[in-house]
Amino acid sequence: MGHSIKYAILLVAATLWSNAFANEISQWLVSQKQVSGLRLLENISPEGAARGAVVASPSKDNPNYFRHWIRDAGLTMDVVIGMYQRATNADEKAQLRTRLVDYVTFSRTNQVTPNPSGGLGEPLFNADGSPFNQGWGRPQNDSPAIRAYTLVRLANILLQEGQAGYVREWLYDGKIPTSSVIKADLEYVAHHLDDTSFDLWEEVRGFHFYTRMVQRRALVDGAKLAETLGDGGAANFYRAKARELEGKIDSHWHWSDKLIMTTLGRDGGIDYKNSHLDASTILAVLHGATGDGFFPPSDDRILATAAKINERFKAIYPINNRGAGVAIGRYPEDRYDGYSTGGEGNPWILLTNGFGELYHRMASDFESRGYISFNEVNRPFFQALLHRSLPDARLSRGDATLKEILRALRAEGDAYLARTRTHTASDGSMAEQLNRHTGFMQGARDLTWSYASLLSAAWARR
Ligand code: NOJ
Ligand code: NOJ
Repeated sequence: MGHSIKYAILLVAATLWSNAFANEISQWLVSQKQVSGLRLLENISPEGAARGAVVASPSKDNPNYFRHWIRDAGLTMDVVIGMYQRATNADEKAQLRTRLVDYVTFSRTNQVTPNPSGGLGEPLFNADGSPFNQGWGRPQNDSPAIRAYTLVRLANILLQEGQAGYVREWLYDGKIPTSSVIKADLEYVAHHLDDTSFDLWEEVRGFHFYTRMVQRRALVDGAKLAETLGDGGAANFYRAKARELEGKIDSHWHWSDKLIMTTLGRDGGIDYKNSHLDASTILAVLHGATGDGFFPPSDDRILATAAKINERFKAIYPINNRGAGVAIGRYPEDRYDGYSTGGEGNPWILLTNGFGELYHRMASDFESRGYISFNEVNRPFFQALLHRSLPDARLSRGDATLKEILRALRAEGDAYLARTRTHTASDGSMAEQLNRHTGFMQGARDLTWSYASLLSAAWARR
């Protein structure tokens, strides 16, 4: 048989196999999306919590996650907005809307509640809305930024629905001092870009790639809303601050290591992280990309960093030796096992799903862009993806290798979801972590953010 015929047969076989695999994941997602949506909603305003509070998990001890983390809540409500946009039934829409409005009200209460951070960088509140007074890694300046961009998205929907009165009263009043949630958050974000704060893992104080990316998104999206609502001066100010951030974000790229540095200017917190192989870099683009071309999921620097993170976790977690898809953790030096920080770090469901979402979003990006140029920064990523060495080339639409890359990205995205599926309980419940040796779930049960990550990854598929 000629070489090219063999290759063609292989290609057909590979395509059939990958279609079967994609179908299997699609089928699983039909039920898993439903369970995830239901469990996620159960963690909003649960019994024993204030209306509008989003508990990180129903678990009240070992660990106690029955609290409202501003970050988890914002990311969760962003997914609730996605559910609201997809809902076709009027009853369901009305119920989702109630949760969104309750969250706005509760968020305003958080903003005006005196707390140990003394400002809007306070990372969490008790489920009843009272301040959380224990020692903690605070402030966390990603938190108000995430709340702001999520609510900007809500504001835009409500404006389209003719709710300008509500938006101007609760979300963006354009006044200083303000009594609206988004405006308060944007002012806080804009005025604290030069302050170090704790990272999303609540452990290191410094300037973080993740925090800066979500701060930028809040300012960019917020500036557009300010403009729409006639607050042009503020819009210019937020845009100027966003531009200022761009240089700072770019400075996280380490040219010779070909890696995005997780944290610069560390000035507190734990000191045993030095690999910079932190999955928060991936979350940074999933949450922080605004569609304006700045650090999209397909950015070469993200490709280079993602390949290195993937490779390391593949090597250090024993469960990755069996079955499809790499389980991903926070960072290799992690010592938080879901109960205490004296243990061994594990893969996390929300990060494994996050990698799945990343690969699907990369595929969509490259597809709409219509070309890929190999270079020294992105080549290792593509070589690992296609399992062969690649020459210098610029692929354009219609090119067989480009098509092959798009298919491989989607298959790889599904492989991460398959990894999650392998370890998910038969009732579809998801905790925070997977034991790196056994694959069993551990840490906070029914983690709200795990469910949110499943839904947003599923929506990123096509
Ligand atoms: C709980 C935090 O949420 C987690 O991220 C951290 O690793 C441990 N506490 C230790 O600070
Ligand atoms: C620990 C995680 O590190 C942090 O990001 C999260 O906010 C809390 N758990 C609550 O889920």
